Amino acid sequence: MAYPAVRPTSGIYHMTRAYTTTSPAETEELARKLASDLRAGTVIALEGELGAGKTVFVKGIAKALGITTVVQSPTFVLMKVYEVQHHAVRRLVHVDCYRLDGSSDLRAVGLEEYLHDSTSVVVIEWADKVPELVPHDATRVRIRSVDEHERTVEITSPDRS
Ligand SMILES: Nc1ncnc2c1ncn2[C@@H]1O[C@H](COP(=O)(O)OP(=O)(O)O)[C@@H](O)[C@H]1O
Ligand SMILES: [Mg+2]
Repeated sequence: MAYPAVRPTSGIYHMTRAYTTTSPAETEELARKLASDLRAGTVIALEGELGAGKTVFVKGIAKALGITTVVQSPTFVLMKVYEVQHHAVRRLVHVDCYRLDGSSDLRAVGLEEYLHDSTSVVVIEWADKVPELVPHDATRVRIRSVDEHERTVEITSPDRS
């Protein structure tokens, strides 16, 4: 399913695609595919309840970038930075806003520097908590639990064509 959508506030056209996955491995694979043509400078805003699969999705992105260490939600440190060996991307910045109250803590750990860095990919779990930090041209990933193993994953990305 694909349909174009306009975000009137930004004037940027976005395309939304919806997928269904039935296992963590499938969600990871979907993320790997999305990440296969990632450009540095991309911000990926993840939304979905606790246990939806946001971190699973980030693991897929990390694998696509060649990260072999274990990726876990940086719930207590807010932000984790992975240096990567990739032709276009120098680092993956993983942010988890679950325990966050407002965006000042994220400013304090230096997120904004990475948001404006054209060699980084930034992924933000619970991005809906910090709407003011998510750029208009971010890719949005919304994951919903249908049942224990089924998830719908809606990916909205800016149309660059
Ligand atoms: N289709 C699926 N996609 C992703 N995770 C799934 C799926 N089915 C079951 N799960 C389980 O749901 C949980 C998702 O956890 P996690 O990625 O940490 O969620 P979040 O980061 O959104 O809180 C994991 O325990 C995973 O095994
Ligand atoms: Mg998580």
